[in-house]
Amino acid sequence: MSYLDTTHDVYKDAALTPDVGLCCTTNPIWELPGLKIPKIMQEMNYGCGSTVNARDLTNNPKVLYVGVGGGMELLQFSYFSRQKGGVIGVDVVKEMIEASEKNFKVAETQNEWFKSDFVDLRFGDALNLPVEDNSIDVAAQNCLFNIFKADDLKKAIEEMYRVLKPHGRLVMSDPTCEQSMNDTLRNDERLRALCLSGSLPIAEYVEALTDVGFGTIEIRARKPYRILDPKNYATDELIYIESIEVAAIKDPMPADGPCIFTGKAAIYYGDGNHFDDKKGHVLVKNQPLAICDKTANALADLKRDDIFISESTYHYDGGGCC
Ligand SMILES: C[S@@+](CC[C@H](N)C(=O)[O-])C[C@H]1O[C@@H](n2cnc3c(N)ncnc32)[C@H](O)[C@@H]1O
Repeated sequence: MSYLDTTHDVYKDAALTPDVGLCCTTNPIWELPGLKIPKIMQEMNYGCGSTVNARDLTNNPKVLYVGVGGGMELLQFSYFSRQKGGVIGVDVVKEMIEASEKNFKVAETQNEWFKSDFVDLRFGDALNLPVEDNSIDVAAQNCLFNIFKADDLKKAIEEMYRVLKPHGRLVMSDPTCEQSMNDTLRNDERLRALCLSGSLPIAEYVEALTDVGFGTIEIRARKPYRILDPKNYATDELIYIESIEVAAIKDPMPADGPCIFTGKAAIYYGDGNHFDDKKGHVLVKNQPLAICDKTANALADLKRDDIFISESTYHYDGGGCC
């Protein structure tokens, strides 16, 4: 039996018996005008953070959601797409597909705009998606990829890359951890399946995305998630786990490397009314410009005393350089 079988069993159980405490969601359940999330979907919210952002969902996008859970985020995506088959949902656990199917029927009774056939549920594996090449505008996963070990993570990201259209985006939320975890924790299949011991440091997580070819990365949020303490887990030290929300955009890879936005900004405060680095970045006096880490490093290398570069806030919400 591999850790993937254990994961399968954990989520089969979680499909048959909703488990409110299974994953520690770090977001409040949000609703919008006319959008009601059924209680059963809230109880089966097995994610952290959110992958649904209105700004990704303009121009009638085709959405793919991998690892459906109770279906809450597919309902939220459907709120924006509102068309038959507008959101494809893929899950490898048959019982989870069946549970979410039932939940969509409940959602129909509470949301007059929603029809179950807005969601096209497909049985399939994140490692071999039953989805055509270059057919998806927005692909999403929440709290699944952190479970995968390195080779499977690479495969899962390659699959998302394959199905996305050029400039399409992969939107994700996953736990991350900056401390190293010992092998006992790492190889504990159940803890991994529960999203507690597979998480990577942010830089490694981002590298896994850029290695596959995503040219632009946005880190949109970073929040506290969980503690593994020596009393309850096989660790000598307290381990702090966070969660992040990330978008990886299938932009061509720039010749000088990926644009990774971690929430930095540059502010010009010199004597002129602007500063132009002649590489496409114009800093208007006293106006913060969101910059990727690559641009931040290039501006810092100029060693000017009239440009301030902020630290990463890990809260990037669009705009700026590149
Ligand atoms: C932690 S839950 C997250 C569920 C949902 N994304 C949410 O936020 O509530 C992981 C989900 O991925 C599914 N899953 C596990 N392994 C998978 C795989 N290899 N391919 C597709 N789905 C998988 C599970 O059945 C479960 O629905």
